[in-house]
Amino acid sequence: MDDTVADETARGDMTGIASEPVLRVDGLSVEFLTDPGPTRVVSDVSFAIGEGETLSLVGESGCGKSVTVMAILGLLEARRSRIAARAVRFQGRDLLAPGGKALRSVRGRGIGMIFQEPMTSLNPTMTVGEQIAEVLRFHLKLDRKAARARAIALLDRVRIPRAAERIDDYPFAFSGGMRQRVMIAMALACSPALLIADEPTTALDVTVQAEIFDLLRELQRETKTALLLITHDLGAVAEMADEVVVMYAGRIVERSPIAELFVRPEHPYTIGLLGASPEWQSDKRRLTPIRGRVPLPGDRLDGCRFAPRCPFVVDRCNSEIPPLAEIGPLHEAACWRAPLDPDQP
Ligand SMILES: Nc1ncnc2c1ncn2[C@@H]1O[C@H](COP(=O)(O)OP(=O)(O)OP(=O)(O)O)[C@@H](O)[C@H]1O
Ligand SMILES: [Mg+2]
Repeated sequence: MDDTVADETARGDMTGIASEPVLRVDGLSVEFLTDPGPTRVVSDVSFAIGEGETLSLVGESGCGKSVTVMAILGLLEARRSRIAARAVRFQGRDLLAPGGKALRSVRGRGIGMIFQEPMTSLNPTMTVGEQIAEVLRFHLKLDRKAARARAIALLDRVRIPRAAERIDDYPFAFSGGMRQRVMIAMALACSPALLIADEPTTALDVTVQAEIFDLLRELQRETKTALLLITHDLGAVAEMADEVVVMYAGRIVERSPIAELFVRPEHPYTIGLLGASPEWQSDKRRLTPIRGRVPLPGDRLDGCRFAPRCPFVVDRCNSEIPPLAEIGPLHEAACWRAPLDPDQP
């Protein structure tokens, strides 16, 4: 990794949580080794999630949410990417340790994953029962009979009617919402301490989306699983998240407890994002639509990457990257205007 990444990762711990959370990501940066040269797509991202907590990662398409998750899970192709971090720890274990041993043992077992499109994650040539049972046999070493019984119980738990019959169906016989329920069942099969859901509902219609979020919330209450939730649905974020991390062009621009974020969004991008969502149209601070376009990862910008689109831009924004600064309890924003300076226009 180049010097700039090393410099950034050498800075202090920004997570602000003293005891060991379930997942702690500290100073994560990711570059892709593209043709013209390395392109940074994630810069100095830090967050932590405790038991039973939900942290939501939000931001426009392409801001680096999925790459962050893929890097944490070691799913990026090593030849084409470079990852640097002060720490990525799951239950205190270093997920970036050489050899990937810690990662292999937690993926699918300690950490369950739900992705956007269930059909691409499910194997169309195996029944859903076989697929869930495979996870159970692999990770928990259950025998065939025990795995099948547990798979039925899991399908029942994600509210699939007549689970004992449906278990022998192939994925194509399930609707999109049901397939996502199967994915949730597989993700929860080994009672993971952390569930990562990356856009779990975007492929589904609105009523089914609400059902899936309800299900996730219920299961989380029962299991105390920590949840890292990536979604464009700010209504779901408002209902589910304890903390929100807002990303813009690969960087965290704001982090806040949920209640505070919707009442007192600080970063102009967050204000714009909330304004851009139909749920928050009544917000007096809305700035819809956010003018301009998201910078591409290769675009050279010396200062704040939101500066070209920001209605409050000042000179400094174009030359210096604003650091995340505390503006309230557990509330940080990376903006030269934060905390709002009464002398500024
Ligand atoms: N394998 C790759 N090689 C090169 N660039 C990549 C690769 N994967 C992702 N990127 C780039 O990294 C940036 C972040 O992508 P990412 O998929 O994390 O966005 P996202 O925030 O998840 O967006 P969305 O909301 O659309 O899912 C994008 O500019 C994307 O084009
Ligand atoms: Mg994504």
